[in-house]
Amino acid sequence: MSSLSQNPQRPEMPSSRRGSGSVVLPSGQTLAYHTRTQDEEDLPHANKKTMADHLRKYDSLFTLTPQRMRMIVEAFRDTLETGLQKKGQIVPMIPTFVFGWPTGEEKGDFLAVDLGGTNLRVCLVTLQGEGKFELTQSKYRLTEEQKQEEGQKLFDFCAECLGNFVKSNIVSAGGKIEEGKNIPLGFTFSYPCSQERIDHGELIRWTKGFGAPNTEGHDVAAMFREALVKYEVPVTLEALINDTTGTLIASHYVNPSTKIAVIFGTGCNAAYMEKLPAIEKLGNLGEGSADEMAINCEWGAFDSFEHEHLPRTKYDIIVDETSNKPGEQSFEKLISGRYLGEILRLVICELIDEGVLFLGQNTYKIEIPYVFDTAFLSLMESDPTDELLMIIGIFTHFFALETTLAERQFFKALAKLVGRRAARLSACGIAAIVNKMGYLEEGCSVGADGSLYNKYPGFADRVHEGLVDIFGVKGKNIVTHHAEDGSGVGSAIIAAMTKNRKDAGIFVNV
Ligand code: GLC
Repeated sequence: MSSLSQNPQRPEMPSSRRGSGSVVLPSGQTLAYHTRTQDEEDLPHANKKTMADHLRKYDSLFTLTPQRMRMIVEAFRDTLETGLQKKGQIVPMIPTFVFGWPTGEEKGDFLAVDLGGTNLRVCLVTLQGEGKFELTQSKYRLTEEQKQEEGQKLFDFCAECLGNFVKSNIVSAGGKIEEGKNIPLGFTFSYPCSQERIDHGELIRWTKGFGAPNTEGHDVAAMFREALVKYEVPVTLEALINDTTGTLIASHYVNPSTKIAVIFGTGCNAAYMEKLPAIEKLGNLGEGSADEMAINCEWGAFDSFEHEHLPRTKYDIIVDETSNKPGEQSFEKLISGRYLGEILRLVICELIDEGVLFLGQNTYKIEIPYVFDTAFLSLMESDPTDELLMIIGIFTHFFALETTLAERQFFKALAKLVGRRAARLSACGIAAIVNKMGYLEEGCSVGADGSLYNKYPGFADRVHEGLVDIFGVKGKNIVTHHAEDGSGVGSAIIAAMTKNRKDAGIFVNV
């Protein structure tokens, strides 16, 4: 019991083992309290044996068997096919109007704006042909407020940053952009947008924690154009693209064996190149001919609302129900960087509640939702020291908590379980596309990007292991590789491809 509640003068405390909470005083004021849960000097710590017992429980909750994975792959493939046949499906399988692969000979100067889940990036890309390019860029961090304020304000901010970037990169300022010249622009907007043409896109729904009002259901390309006019930015928006589509095209530009692209970042999604006749829902495209079109799957929405196929634990359900979009993006919520740290934090909080962890310590810092960054998972997993000094550092520095070696070993193992599940589920999505397209025998390269893929040690290996669990040794034919900058370079290549296509009179109205 806390020492506070033993004092008769104090209002009664709710019975919780946690170290923090609040009570309403008779005056109506709210008092936040942070207490130690034990008063003993010698803090009782969970021992090795109890931590091992707990680990066994979480191991069975977070481990996916090959058989379960194959079941998921099957359901996933059905979902992808339905999405191509019918409009308005939960996994929307969005036609992107990017027709086929780049030749590698696309050339010229292009601007790219990338509104991602965490940053806004503006780039000037010079495509030099032969798969080569040069890039100059500026990055701006998006604040949590910006993600929730009026949609038009968000696009105004993008236009303002782009305008400043253009000014600081004109020839007279030592840059490459000629004054008075109108530059083609590719806009990477990495949220599900249904497109009627390549320079149009109606936002189906916000994902990754964004919630800016008056944007869902609106044409975001038109909103951005309005902002570009307002800030007098000398550009022409040629193409609205998704980061996965950009990654697919940029990866193929430098590595032509690429057939699929996956983003493992704040969100998780994939794109691939589909045969035109297989996209049954596609209407009349007008004059022209082409064999293929890139599809932005928006696979993060797999199993949303119905929750029939994915193995959700109670922690996943809490993440979902407390998110700004309950029920949605079910697959993404088990995989992407926005959520993994939170899943692990919820397990830790459960063990605090059960009186297993951090007895006698003040735990309020770790009780705040989303404080446990996914980057901590990779740091914990890659701690090479016997004493797990990195983990000591994370817990003392960020959460003012002391840990025993047994606890630290447990955290490291738990991080591994959560990260491994994410990688194996991702393998299921990749396998569904591979199955659908018949790529297993000939094999294919999967261009992958995003913080999780790039910074989480062993993530790629675990995806590969997962593919072998699903397909047997043939799974080795499917190999992921780090993709070069899809949302910058990819969007420039797509802007160039679009310009070339329209100049050649192919499907000029889309
Ligand atoms: C979310 C978005 C999707 C994007 C992905 C990766 O899933 O809905 O459009 O590709 O995150 O950034």
